[in-house]
Amino acid sequence: MQHWPAEAVWEQVAPLLPGFTVEVLPEVDSSNTELMRRARAGQTEPTLLVAERQSAGRGRLGRPWQSDIGDSLTFSLSLPFAPRDWSGLSLAVGLSLAESLHPEIGLKWPNDLWWRERKLGGILIEAATAGGHSQLVVGIGINIRPPGAEGLSTPPAALTELWPEASAGAALSRLARPLVQTLLDFERTGFAPLQARYDARDALRGREVHTSEGQRGLALGVGAGGALRLQQASGVHEVHSSEISVRPFPQTMPDHGG
Ligand code: BTN
Repeated sequence: MQHWPAEAVWEQVAPLLPGFTVEVLPEVDSSNTELMRRARAGQTEPTLLVAERQSAGRGRLGRPWQSDIGDSLTFSLSLPFAPRDWSGLSLAVGLSLAESLHPEIGLKWPNDLWWRERKLGGILIEAATAGGHSQLVVGIGINIRPPGAEGLSTPPAALTELWPEASAGAALSRLARPLVQTLLDFERTGFAPLQARYDARDALRGREVHTSEGQRGLALGVGAGGALRLQQASGVHEVHSSEISVRPFPQTMPDHGG
């Protein structure tokens, strides 16, 4: 097992989240799947679960998420969560990670971490609801070192390209507390207060894009609820669903990292 700063992360986060625990598993099917299972079984204590290896890592849109052991940071955070409005949550998470990790990291709507036209990391947000209680599970995968890229026309980006001394543990130390603070703030105030900061990192704004649903247009940025605003011949249209993926022209990158 590699060295993880579990205690330091706990010390930073516990004051914000009473009952918080940090756990590191050498192997699990998927850290999101595991925390969703626990939530459904009524285990709702705030937990950050690091997976050194996932045998069935999951990405958005039902895609698999693969990463080589030691080359990436893969973890999930579970906590009770009751925002008035969920819209823009995945953007808020991406923004928090980008701001914690490096000034040059951009965001590709809705929530990819993006650097120089390549994907650096991804976010999978799920929620379990039972008896009026909702539990949020935020799963994060970040490429730390360049992975073996056989079969990929463009290898994904890796954090060591921007931050040469980066390790999975160092990245986790930087991002954990700001991520929890972002979630707690989001619960009270939603996405709107983050819109300007998202704009500053928006990798699509001003570019022609196309969506997996066949829409095309000029990306104008995101609205106060986190929708992607597209200028089309017929006017400005908002793309809401996080079940849609968006690519800039020209298409140059693989869709999932690691
Ligand atoms: C995406 O870009 O499609 C989202 C990728 C999310 C991957 C992370 S790795 C940790 C957590 N466990 C999973 O199975 N998925 C998320």
